[in-house]
Amino acid sequence: MSQNKHQFSRIIGTGGYLPEKVLTNHDLEKMVDTSDAWIRERTGIEQRHIAAENQTTADLAEQAARQALNAASLTPEAIELIVVATTTPDKIFPSTACLLQQRLGNHGAPAFDVQAVCSGFIYALSVADQFIRTGAVNNALVVGAETLSRIIDWSDRNTCVLFGDGAGAVVLAASDEPGVINTHIHADGQYETLLHVPSGVSKKPVTDSLSERSMHMRGSEVFKVAVNTLSQVATETLEKNHIHPSDLDWLVPHQANKRIIDATGRKLKLKPEQVVVTVNKHANTSAASVPLALNEAVRDGRIQPGHLVLMEAFGGGFTWGSALVRM
Ligand code: UT7
Repeated sequence: MSQNKHQFSRIIGTGGYLPEKVLTNHDLEKMVDTSDAWIRERTGIEQRHIAAENQTTADLAEQAARQALNAASLTPEAIELIVVATTTPDKIFPSTACLLQQRLGNHGAPAFDVQAVCSGFIYALSVADQFIRTGAVNNALVVGAETLSRIIDWSDRNTCVLFGDGAGAVVLAASDEPGVINTHIHADGQYETLLHVPSGVSKKPVTDSLSERSMHMRGSEVFKVAVNTLSQVATETLEKNHIHPSDLDWLVPHQANKRIIDATGRKLKLKPEQVVVTVNKHANTSAASVPLALNEAVRDGRIQPGHLVLMEAFGGGFTWGSALVRM
C-alpha cells in the first residue's frame, strides 16, 4: 500500500450489469396471486432481471467491474483495494471480493466483502473513501452485486415481486478536490426480524427448507421506518455539509419502492426529473441498486462532471446511509 496522503476520493468511472433474463409483472401473475396493477401501484416496479442458473454474484460483479475500470482507464493490476457489497455471496468463503480479484487477475490488493444488505454499496463506498482519505491506497474498486433471486421464495407474493439481480461498480481515485464530500452510515440492530433470512452458518445452518433460506419481510413496517429514516439521513447530510437542497443536482436513491423514492424527493423539494429512478426496470437489487442507478444516469448523460449528487440507501439490519458526491 502507498503512503501518499490525499484529502479526497473521487469517482473516476462507473459500470453496471444486468442479467439477460427479464421477468415481468405479467410473468409473476402466472406464478403467484398478484397483478401487474397491484405491483405497479404499490411499488412502481414493472420488471426485474434474473441471473441465469449458472450465473453467480461474482459473475455479475465482474461485468460491472470491468465496465467501471474501462471508464476509469485503469487496468485490473493497478487496483489497490477491492470492496464488494453483497448479501448473496457465491460461497461462505472466500469473499466475493477475492473471487472477483481472481477473475480480474489482480494480485495483492486487499479485498473484502461488506455486508449491510441494501445499504451495502453506501457502506462500501464509505469504507473505501476512508482508505483513500488516510492515504493508505490511491484507488479502489467498489462493487455492489447481488443474486437476490437465490434467497427468494417464489411462491411468497409478499417478497417475490419486489427483488431483482444485478451489479454496479465505481472506481475511486485519490484527488486533491472532492469527490466524495462526505458519507454518513448508520445501523440499528433492534429491527432484525422485520427483514431477514432465518438461516445462515452459525445459528441455523442452511437446509433445504425453503422458508428458512428465503427472505422474510414485514413490508408495511419496513416501509414506515424507511421513509422516516431516509428523510432524516438526507437532511442530516445536507445540514452537516451546509448544503441547501436547491444546491443538489441529483438524488440517486436506493430503488426499493417508487413511493419511498418520491417521499424523499418531496422532502428535499427536488423536481421529479432530478431523481434517478430505475426501480421500474430493475426492481430492488439491494446492494447493486444505487451503483446501477448512478451508472445509468452517468452513461445516458444526465449526470455530468461537476454535478452534486446525493445517494442514499436503507436496508436489513436495519442499516442506512448517504453519500454526498461531486462528480
Ligand atoms: O430494500 C430494503 C427496504 N425494503 C423496503 O423498503 C420495502 C418496504 N415495503 C414496501 O415497499 C411495501 O410495504 C410493500 C410493497 C412490500 C407492500 O406495500 P403496502 O402498501 O405496504 O401493502 P401491505 O403490505 O400493507 O399489503 C396490502 C395488501 C395485503 O392484503 P390485505 O391484508 O389488505 O387483504 C397484502 O396481502 O396487499 C396484499 N399483497 C399483495 N397483493 C397482490 C401483498 N403483496 C401482494 C402482491 N400482490 N404481490
